[in-house]
Amino acid sequence: MTVEDSPDAPPPPVRSRRRPAEPGRQDWKSWPHYDAAGTGFRGYWYPVTWSSQITDKPLPFTICGEKITLIRDGGTAYALHNRCPHRGVPLSEGDQQFPGTVSCPYHGWTFDLPTGKLAAVITDGPGCRLTGKVSVRTYAVEERLGMVWVYIPLADEEPHPIDSQLPEELVSNAFVMGGRIDPRGGNWRFACENGFDEGHAKYLHRTALWRLFKPMPTWNITRIVPKGRWIFRVQDEVYWEAEFPGVGRWSNKRWWKFQPPKETFNIGNTGKADRINPTIEAQEFPGFASLSMPGVLRIAYPNFIHYEFYVPVDEDNHRYVGVMVNFTEGWDTLRFYGKYLGAIRWLFHGQFSGQDAWMVDITDAPPEKLYRPDISLTAWRNLSEEEYGKKLAGAGTHEKEA
Ligand code: FES
Repeated sequence: MTVEDSPDAPPPPVRSRRRPAEPGRQDWKSWPHYDAAGTGFRGYWYPVTWSSQITDKPLPFTICGEKITLIRDGGTAYALHNRCPHRGVPLSEGDQQFPGTVSCPYHGWTFDLPTGKLAAVITDGPGCRLTGKVSVRTYAVEERLGMVWVYIPLADEEPHPIDSQLPEELVSNAFVMGGRIDPRGGNWRFACENGFDEGHAKYLHRTALWRLFKPMPTWNITRIVPKGRWIFRVQDEVYWEAEFPGVGRWSNKRWWKFQPPKETFNIGNTGKADRINPTIEAQEFPGFASLSMPGVLRIAYPNFIHYEFYVPVDEDNHRYVGVMVNFTEGWDTLRFYGKYLGAIRWLFHGQFSGQDAWMVDITDAPPEKLYRPDISLTAWRNLSEEEYGKKLAGAGTHEKEA
């Protein structure tokens, strides 16, 4: 990871990518909160970068349209609004002249990191009347999973505990993980919808080498089942196959044949202390793909879980945080790292995920015309609409428009 990973330079655009809906084609009127959330849902923690990247040299990032600078002091990471109130220069261009502060590079206004208050003005001496009276906005910061997380507030509320937002199994189990954080083009909602989109898995990824190791689903009669804060795709037991001249024979056979009875529906691997239902031995099973607020995909195989956090940057960019987690300890961790660095990082987090990045970057909806497999997209929109509506009502505030 380098500083170039921060697609911060352009200001968050206010323009909309959308064309007006044509007659007979669907817009996003049914999901007004979702439609308005072009720069993301506020009131959540978002992973920004690897902890190792944050040092005493401030770095710039944009999350949910907010320009932020991250800096570390005395082992603690801090986040400040990346704009000096004097003349608007980014504080990320400055440096640390005194412990616990960051100084603007232009005229030396120096801000206290925990509070954001102007602590000193190097070019105006000790008698500066603005000291203590001017401040930059600060953001709550936590570090989990080897990453720095920042809370993007809805209003001026206190952030909820970050552990209540993380997938439960990542809070209570020991594990090892590998992952990558990449800046990507395309709105964050397209990334969410792509991750949970069952219809694309076998077609878009038909040339992905990862498919040599893991089969991809072909859509069937899918149901969406809520469980806790997640929604899961569950397939019913209907088998189909068809010949498409020139494209070959297509079916859902590999996927379909492992259907367990509905009663044994399982959310998949939940960590060392609570393994997958042992009666389900196949690596493919329904309910393994799930999505939750504010845009977290969870693919639970029996021996590992893959997560994708889609972090809004602005209307046209997001940050992809892909993490593969294995609930293992001791010498087995070396085996996992070997597998991750030798294959998974390149095949899955590389080529396979690169195909998704391509589609997310060039998607241009709405307007749109949905088909049966898009039930996964609309279920996610329904969930986020409901959850964000509750959050807005609880905060007693009006939505901030993108
Ligand atoms: Fe920052 Fe002048 S612009 S000190």
